[in-house]
Formats: sequence, C-alpha cells, structure tokens
Amino acid sequence: MGKKKREHFAEMKTFPCVFEPTNEQMTSGAHHMKGKWHEEFFKNDGPITLELGCGKGEYTIALAKKYPTQNFIGVDVKGARIWRGAKTADEDEMKNVAFLRTKIEFINTYFDKNEVDHIWLTFSDPQPKDKKGTKRITSNIFLERYRKFLKPDGVVHVKTDSDVLYEKTMEAIEEGNHQIIHNTDDLYVKDFDSFSPDMQEILNVKTFYEEKFLAVGKNIHYVSFRLSDVSNQA
Ligand SMILES: C[S@@+](CC[C@H](N)C(=O)[O-])C[C@H]1O[C@@H](n2cnc3c(N)ncnc32)[C@H](O)[C@@H]1O
Repeated sequence: MGKKKREHFAEMKTFPCVFEPTNEQMTSGAHHMKGKWHEEFFKNDGPITLELGCGKGEYTIALAKKYPTQNFIGVDVKGARIWRGAKTADEDEMKNVAFLRTKIEFINTYFDKNEVDHIWLTFSDPQPKDKKGTKRITSNIFLERYRKFLKPDGVVHVKTDSDVLYEKTMEAIEEGNHQIIHNTDDLYVKDFDSFSPDMQEILNVKTFYEEKFLAVGKNIHYVSFRLSDVSNQA
C-alpha cells in the first residue's frame, strides 16, 4: 500500500462521519446503528438517502449540500474512494452526511424497516457475467434486500453509462413489477428538459466515473422506480 493511501486510511479513522465495521460486525446481521441512524447519528427525523457503490461520494455530498435538512449515507467497500467524500464532509462540517465502508451484500445489517427514503445506484458495476443477479446491485436479489429497509413509497434511482446494466435493470423492474417513475436511455441528449429544475440540478451532478464515460462519448441512462407493492400478496 502506498504512503498516501496509508495516510488516508489513518485519517479516515479520525472522521466522525465514517463507519468502518469489522468483517464480524458486517456479517452479524445487526450492526449497532441498525434502526438508530436518526436518533444516534443525524439527531433529526429527516429522510435518509443511501448512495450504494458511492465511490468518492459525489451524489452523497451534492445532495447533502442541496438538502441540508435531509440525511445522506454513502456506502462503498473501497476506503480509498470513500476518503474523498468523507474529507469534504469533515472539512465542510456537514452534519447530514455519513459514509459506511461495507459490502452491499450485507446492507441489511445496517438498516431497519422503513429507515430509508431514497437509494441512488450511481454507475454501478454492470457484472455482465452475473446470470443469477447475485452480484449486480440492481438485480431483484438486491432489490428485495433494499425492500427490507426502504419505505413503501421510497424511490430507487439508477444512473449508468452501461447498456448491460440498464437493460438488466429494466428486466428486473419488469420481472419484479416495480413502478417506473422516470426512464431515459439518453438523459442529457434526449430527455433532460423534461425534468423539473430541481431534478435537472440533481441529475447534472457528475461522478468520477461519469466524467470518464462522458469523455469517451457514452450516453447516460437514468431510471427511477418504486418497488412493487407486495402488501396485498399472499
Ligand atoms: C464503477 S464504480 C462507481 C463509483 C461512483 N459511484 C462513481 O460513479 O464514480 C463502482 C463502485 O462500486 C463499489 N462496489 C462495487 N461492488 C460493491 C459491493 N458489492 N459492495 C460495496 N461496494 C461495491 C466499488 O468499490 C466502486 O467504488
């Protein structure tokens, strides 16, 4: 590990907004923050948004600045990436931001029923060889994990350059009978004007990976949806 990375990892331990559970805690099924984010960390009842696979946390930081009375948690397994967002949150004394270093497979360890209002999946790994959906974080296997903590009217937002991820996500939405709110296969060129000014500001946030994909001419897909209502089903 390089010197800079070591310094960043050491600095992360000093950031009050960063949670780095041990493997044992991650697999325990019940981290001590589960169901307690409002009461013990944010100290308010505002909505909570997760950015899963947040990398440097561009959406987490941008949304937290735009909505200071709401709460935002960036989740990623890679500490070196999380450091960037956490450093900004710390320097800017942002009280409505946390970062959680963990594998998304274990996300149910950290959040309880109805604890989360929105989920952003930003430029997620498409996992083209994952036929069963055990790795792709927009598959119905993952969406059913999210259902356990997302409010019934909660929204999942997917922004991606990847045709594979977009197509597989659309298949999962159809299979799961989830309800699409917005859907565009070419956000900036075809459909940007159809969004409200607030949503345009949000959708205009460019992540590290998005900048790279735009630079090589990729078009950006965006879909938002609510999970199907299973309350009436047997
Ligand atoms: C392509 S990058 C996108 C990062 C960032 N959202 C962006 O747009 O710049 C995908 C991110 O997801 C994270 N990731 C992938 N699979 C993950 C998993 N199972 N659990 C946690 N993080 C994961 C990676 O570490 C990486 O930072």
